[in-house]
Amino acid sequence: MRSYMKKEYTANPVEYIPSNNRQIAIFPTEGGNIDKEVVHSFGEEWLKFHDFSDATIDQIALEYFDIIKPEHVNRNTYMLDIGCGTGRWTKWMAKRAGFIEAVDPSNAVFAADKLLGKIENVRLTKASIETIPFPDNSFDFAMSIGVLHHIPDTAQAMKDCVKKVKPGGYFYCYLYHNLETRGWWFKTLYWLSNLIRKPVCLLPAGLKRIVCDILAIVIYMPLVLWVRFLVLIGLRKIAVKMPLSAYNNKSFFVIRNDALDKFGTRLEQRFSKKQVIQMMEDAGLSHIEISPLTPFYHAIGKKK
Ligand SMILES: C[S@@+](CC[C@H](N)C(=O)[O-])C[C@H]1O[C@@H](n2cnc3c(N)ncnc32)[C@H](O)[C@@H]1O
Repeated sequence: MRSYMKKEYTANPVEYIPSNNRQIAIFPTEGGNIDKEVVHSFGEEWLKFHDFSDATIDQIALEYFDIIKPEHVNRNTYMLDIGCGTGRWTKWMAKRAGFIEAVDPSNAVFAADKLLGKIENVRLTKASIETIPFPDNSFDFAMSIGVLHHIPDTAQAMKDCVKKVKPGGYFYCYLYHNLETRGWWFKTLYWLSNLIRKPVCLLPAGLKRIVCDILAIVIYMPLVLWVRFLVLIGLRKIAVKMPLSAYNNKSFFVIRNDALDKFGTRLEQRFSKKQVIQMMEDAGLSHIEISPLTPFYHAIGKKK
């Protein structure tokens, strides 16, 4: 017997658009705390990169969800995925949660519809954090993975997410770290990659994809192959300290997608562990746990 209660929309959608597998309700994405260029660019990105295999999703999910336990997500969980993109994590969670409301303001919702196929315990909604059409204090669990650092006021966006969670429910997020624990070579590489990102993110979609594919080959692959070589000759301990070591076991598809994600996005912000904890506390969370493992930082907290 499942105990969650699916909520009705709190406002009328502007329209419903039929996609391959479901009707998608469209809500306005106005509001001050959104970068519409970034959202548009993600829509284009995800419409091209949504063919994640279950094996790829399972492999990366192990890293993102190492701190998620059955007390956080189980078959009784009514869940919200904020900024769901292709719905890859919605898909993974759908096997574990009761029902998932997945929202994204971009056209990625149509890619998510394809990836999610006929999965029944998911509803897709086109809306932004400021227009999430569900009542406050509704969800047992909400997550926002790789989203809040692409929003102008990250701390405010986190508060807007957490207000949808019931008291006693959980909020999980992944936010880019500011490399505070990394050595000078990481910081130099980041500085260089930022120099490249600034012009690349302004390119038109098609050209941006081509340039990012080239960057995946000339920047990511040499570093990844170096890491793989170190692992092969038994120097794993040194390999894991190298930049991009997280891609050691990732496919070229994932590397291309991440290159587009990293170099193709206009707005990205980075945070220290202390700042992540502070934002989570200010949003009304307690029992905050930050994973000691990559990707940094992914964290969960309980709503007071
Ligand atoms: C890097 S993608 C992450 C997608 C997905 N969570 C994942 O990890 O695969 C960032 C997503 O955040 C969405 N996004 C950007 N601004 C947003 C906002 N104000 N409200 C909700 N989602 C937003 C984008 O449309 C995009 O799909």
